[in-house]
Amino acid sequence: MDSSESKNDALGAVIESYKSKPGSLLTVLQQAQKIFGWLSHRTMRRVADGLDLPAAQVESVASYYSFFHLEPRGETVIRVCASAPCHIGGADRVFAALEETLGIRIGETTKDMKFSLLRCDCLGICDRAPAVLIGEEVFGPLTAEEVPELISRYR
Ligand code: FES
Repeated sequence: MDSSESKNDALGAVIESYKSKPGSLLTVLQQAQKIFGWLSHRTMRRVADGLDLPAAQVESVASYYSFFHLEPRGETVIRVCASAPCHIGGADRVFAALEETLGIRIGETTKDMKFSLLRCDCLGICDRAPAVLIGEEVFGPLTAEEVPELISRYR
């Protein structure tokens, strides 16, 4: 079984276990995103069919919440805090080092689909400014000089 087949099977199992539970759309979309890494139109249509909901409703819920990704994301998402304390602490230099190390600009994904680089608001760890979230791990205070070594741990 190839990996897209097993992902499709996993989504089928999620839909099956939630289809008779009203109000489960958000949960199913979250699970679908966990399986595929993002929500394609195809995935959303499948969720709509499976939960017997209008496709437009599923798409509008997915577009409303910022934690849903409607475009492919890299395996590892890097978020750099751009709120005031981190900005003052040197977030721009960290951004520049990340862009150079990864060879992409803010908002882009590397060609090998390993990394996406995003700007975000306060991560709630302002005492560690400038702060960066890599996957689910928090780093900070981070300097531009530390970036290449840090990224090499995720390659
Ligand atoms: S301002 Fe960056 S973590 Fe709060």
